[in-house]
This record gives sequence, structure tokens and C-alpha cells, in this order.
Amino acid sequence: MTQVRWPRGFFVTGTDTGVGKTRVAVALLNALARAGADVAGFKPVASGCTRRDGRLVNDDAMALFRASTVDAAYDEVNPYAFEQAIAPHVAARQVGVTIDRARIRASYEKLVARADFVVVEGAGGWLVPLGADSTMADIAGDLGLPIVLVVAMRLGCINHALLTAQAIAAGGQRLAGWVANDPQPSMPEREASVAAILERVAAPCLADLAFGAEPNLETIASHCLAIRF
Ligand SMILES: Nc1ncnc2c1ncn2[C@@H]1O[C@H](COP(=O)(O)OP(=O)(O)OP(=O)(O)O)[C@@H](O)[C@H]1O
Ligand SMILES: [Mg+2]
Repeated sequence: MTQVRWPRGFFVTGTDTGVGKTRVAVALLNALARAGADVAGFKPVASGCTRRDGRLVNDDAMALFRASTVDAAYDEVNPYAFEQAIAPHVAARQVGVTIDRARIRASYEKLVARADFVVVEGAGGWLVPLGADSTMADIAGDLGLPIVLVVAMRLGCINHALLTAQAIAAGGQRLAGWVANDPQPSMPEREASVAAILERVAAPCLADLAFGAEPNLETIASHCLAIRF
């Protein structure tokens, strides 16, 4: 693409772990690629990896890597990979690693130089610690990308969505939109919960993904491409 007027990407966070961030991040990559953009996925910190050919590989990062259309090495897509599926700051401490925000930023810069859009997946929820004095929210701030919040539609989700939206705003960051996602079969009175979030969050719903439904890539792309910095 010759002229880029859109945001350089999105930072995908969620109301919790296991809410559909990877599913949504892959859908965003596929939707934007189908709209003609060069795209790269980025999973700066992953805990829960398996050893393959002598290196640690994470399923989420591999899914983002596979959905990318630009050339990138796995290590660029996932600079920090920890074996144990535990809180990232604990996983890092266990192996004597300090997560360096500058290194993450440098990896991101390499990807953004090659892609029209970089779709970044956080780890867990918004305020997951990465070390003594940094969180995943700091990474989102360092990268300066608009935020996409994935809300798992289950009991308690309204509170989780509003708390996360409030924390994003309190950090001076921009919530570009949210996604209603069902990682389990639909909750009772789901639409009332969707409506409650719509009424209280000042950002559009970019997609509504029922359990097992294939994301509508055209709709997602049109919503994402309408977002401006
Ligand atoms: N709409 C959906 N329909 C069916 N299955 C779904 C849906 N959304 C998520 N899932 C499933 O729920 C599980 C968790 O989803 P996903 O891995 O995308 O969550 P996550 O937020 O990225 O988790 P993590 O915090 O581990 O990164 C996966 O097995 C995924 O396939
Ligand atoms: Mg994930």
C-alpha cells in the first residue's frame, strides 16, 4: 500500500485471560490483509511455550506469525517466550530475565517498518505485571496504538469491561473499540449485557462473535479502517 492514513495497528487486550484475544487478533490480521494491507502480528510477551527445534514457541505467537503477510522471524514476532504458563513477571523471574520495554519497542519498530498494520496481543488482562515496575499497559503506551478490548460475554463481564475501559482512559490511552466474544456457549440475557456495555463504554463495538461463529472479516475491516488517530 502506498499511502497509509490509518492507525499503524491495534493493541488487543481483554477482560481476562482466555477471553478470545488471539481469536480476535487473528481475525483483525485476516480482515486487514483481505482489505489489501500488509500485516504483522506481535506477541511481545508469552508465557506457556513448548520447545521446538531448540527454541521456545508459543501457540498464540505462532497463530499471529502465521496470519502475518510480511516476512518476519519468529523471534521478532515474539521477543519474550517463557516456558511455564504462569504470570509473565513470575515466569521471567524464574529464568533470571528482566523484561526490557526498549527491546519490545525495537521489535515493534522492525515490524511496523514492513507492515501497514501491526496487531499486538497483550498477555492476560490490561494490568498484567511484567516486572517490579511495569505492566502490559505500559507496553501498549510505549507502542502508542489504539486499544481493542475483547470482552468475554459471561457473568461478571460488565464490571470487567467497565473496569478495563476506565483503566485504559486513566492511563491516557485510547480505546478504539471493543469486541463482544463468546468463548463459551452464550450466557443468559447476553444481549442485555451487550447493551449495558454499549451504553457505558464510549467506544464502538467492532464485532460481535457468537460461540463457534466465524468472524465476519468484511465488517471487522470496515470498522477498523474507519478508525483514525
Ligand atoms: N467465539 C468463539 N467461539 C468458539 N471458541 C472460542 C471463541 N472465542 C474464543 N474461543 C476459544 O476459547 C479459547 C480462548 O480463546 P483465545 O485463545 O483466543 O483467548 P486469549 O484471550 O487469547 O487467551 P490467552 O489469555 O491465553 O492469550 C480458545 O480455545 C479459543 O479457540
Ligand atoms: Mg491469546
